[in-house]
Amino acid sequence: MAFFRNISFPEPLLFVAGEGVVLRQPQMTDYGAWATLRETSRAFLTPWEPIWPADDLSRGAFRRRLRRYAEDLRTDQSYAFLIVRNLDNVLLGGLTLANIRRGVAQAGSLGYWIGMPFVRRGYMTAAVRAIIPFAFDTLRLHRLDAACIPTNTASMRLLERTGFTREGYAREYLCINGIWQDHLLYGRLRDAKRGK
Ligand SMILES: CC(C)(COP(=O)(O)OP(=O)(O)OC[C@H]1O[C@@H](n2cnc3c(N)ncnc32)[C@H](O)[C@@H]1OP(=O)(O)O)[C@@H](O)C(=O)NCCC(=O)NCCS
Repeated sequence: MAFFRNISFPEPLLFVAGEGVVLRQPQMTDYGAWATLRETSRAFLTPWEPIWPADDLSRGAFRRRLRRYAEDLRTDQSYAFLIVRNLDNVLLGGLTLANIRRGVAQAGSLGYWIGMPFVRRGYMTAAVRAIIPFAFDTLRLHRLDAACIPTNTASMRLLERTGFTREGYAREYLCINGIWQDHLLYGRLRDAKRGK
């Protein structure tokens, strides 16, 4: 992990470097690329995400989103990143480490999306691999959770190839695309590399 300062942003921006990708805090200057990529990818993403509010892609909603992200980061509740390509700074997608539970849990939940033009090129694998040391070493978490709909083959493959283990099945776990949907539950422990 590293920090750098930006003149228009008083706080140091958080960023995490991965193989070919960089995960960094979203800024207002990302609005155009973000809204364009989300709009282009709408039909691809909406089956797997909560319903998008009518004004979701507006500049005002993006501004509110950034305020919420900043407050969540400040209070150690959630860490939202955009994923950009190292080579040319092109926006690829997003990844969020959310619902951080401290105390006896020391856990967080992983969520992610890639823009449709960039699917199946290994970008999300690189992003998840980069967030793992951030979660376990920088944030000192003990466990990462993730959940996906059983028909989401891409998400299942992604989690399995990044060291997550399928641990369970939760009925009507999340309201996705307007429907309470069953989910497969995955987990990755801090010591996964030691065979857990
Ligand atoms: C899940 C998602 C983030 C994967 O991103 P990606 O950058 O395409 O993933 P990668 O290229 O790193 O590939 C990861 C694995 O998934 C596989 N994969 C990707 N898309 C796939 C598809 N449509 N069908 C089957 N496997 C797929 C890849 O082949 C790879 O596995 P493998 O090496 O065993 O072949 C992307 O498909 C996405 O954004 N989906 C819509 C939103 C979503 O599902 N969010 C998560 C909700 S739980």
